[in-house]
Parts: sequence; C-alpha cells; structure tokens
Amino acid sequence: VRSVQSIADLRTQIANWRRAGLRIGLVPTMGNLHAGHIALAERARELADRVVATIFVNPTQFVAGEDYAQYPRTLDKDSRWFEQAGVDLLFAPPAEAIYPEGPAMQTKVDVAALDGRLCGAFRPGHFPGVATVITKLFNLVQPDLAVFGEKDYQQLLVIKRLVRDLFIPVEVIGHPTVREADGLAMSSRNAYLSADEREIAPQLYASLQRAAQALAAGDVDLAAIGAAGREYLTRLGFKPDYFSVCSADSLEPPRADETDLIVLAAAWLGRARLIDNVRAERPSRPGASR
Ligand code: PAF
Repeated sequence: VRSVQSIADLRTQIANWRRAGLRIGLVPTMGNLHAGHIALAERARELADRVVATIFVNPTQFVAGEDYAQYPRTLDKDSRWFEQAGVDLLFAPPAEAIYPEGPAMQTKVDVAALDGRLCGAFRPGHFPGVATVITKLFNLVQPDLAVFGEKDYQQLLVIKRLVRDLFIPVEVIGHPTVREADGLAMSSRNAYLSADEREIAPQLYASLQRAAQALAAGDVDLAAIGAAGREYLTRLGFKPDYFSVCSADSLEPPRADETDLIVLAAAWLGRARLIDNVRAERPSRPGASR
C-alpha cells in the first residue's frame, strides 16, 4: 500500500482527494495488526471512497511503566495486510512529526466527562493521550468518518464526545469486537499470554456474558454482579482492575430506569492487561426512577 511518513506528503494527497469531492474514511491504529483491525479497514472501505489508515505507537497514551518500548512494531506485515483490506494510503509518521517539541510540551485534549473511572482511573493520562493524538490525526487527515473498535468502549465514547464538544466534523463509527473462536477478544496484547494463560483468557468474556444474562433476567443488584465477576476472575488467576455495570450511554452508574447497560472489565493475566465488554439490555421496571 502507498505509505507516507511526512505531514506534507499526507496533506498533498488529502487535498487532491478533497478537491475531487471524495469521501475519506480513517482507521487509526498502533499497528501490529490482527483481524479486528482489518475489519475496521473493511468497514471504512464500504463507507468511504478513499481509506487512510494510520500506524502510530502513540507515546502519550502509555502510562509510566507500561509497554511503550516493547510494543511490537511490524510495519512491513501491517502494510501488506492493509493493502489486502483495500486501504489507499498508510500514514506512519515518526514520533517527532506528531510531537515536534516532545510529548510533554504540547496542547492536551482532556475529555474530563469520561476520564477518571474504569480504565481512566487505572491508567491516569491514558485517555488525554488518546484524545490528543486522535484530534491531531483528525485535523491532519480531515476524514469524513473514522472507525474504531467497540472492544475499547470507553475510548470510543471519549472520541465521540471529543468530536461533539470540539465541533470536529467527523462521523465516529463503532465496529463490533472481533473474537477468536473461543470468545477471546482480539488484541495485540494477547501475544503476551503464555500457553496456560491463553487457555483461561476466554473466561473474561464468559464472565461478562454471564453478568449480562443476569441483568437481562432482571437481577438488579449491580454491586453483587460486579463483585461476583471480580471474584470469579481472581479465582482463575486474573488480577481484575474492575468489573462494572454501567450505563451504555454515559458509563455512569445506571439510573434505575435505564435499560441499555454495558458490563465492562479489565484484568491482568500475567503480563497482559485484557479488557472486554458486553452490552446488556435489562427489562424496564415500570415506575423505576433514580
Ligand atoms: O485503539 C488504538 O489502537 C489507539 O488507542 C488509537 C485509537 C489508535 C490511538 O492511538
């Protein structure tokens, strides 16, 4: 696939497409692609005339002590995969192009309404890093639409909220999580799992599904559902960061009359921090209010 590293080359190509009135779709990634990323590219391919994919291991979204240095960089393979998925242009800039003065000395975008809980509480600074780089990529590529995976549900809501709050004219599209045959959500970080850990990893999804089933069956004790999920995962050898039932719209604790819920969990398994979520529709309770 045609690949550019410089902002000047990217802008030249984008300007040509915009002049021709073409609809541009964007798929931002950190590379080390798996079938989940390819599904995002294929979705963008269906919705847009031209697809731009980005590969940028964004330093500002890694918290101190995380795997920034070790994060696998597999540009040649990724480029071939994007080619097959119908991507028209790959933008893979060096860190200095995106952060010319270094990551510390720059404007930050902070979607405060959604930070501070779930992954935000355990990875302080992560979502401002994501929001900042996505704002930069949206301004550089000026896409009509951008596609993100629903596995990173909080990230998806952060990005939807940032385009709304900052009036960025990009349609943000969520795409369903792609799973292995045994249910494990695809993730670049699954590669960190040992063979034994890989065996039990699908239990994260299984435990979320059970919680969603309990909600659908009318269980109203959300704290007990969360505690049971954490306990189950701990017994199997996970170290859960959280297992929580939230409003699917706001990620706040659900109001009593809210029916559109989501169960989200993050848990360490060996060196891998796995996250996943399952939507849950609960029966409406007549007269229920806050
Ligand atoms: O989901 C990811 O891979 C990253 O967080 C993203 C959206 C590409 C921003 O760096």
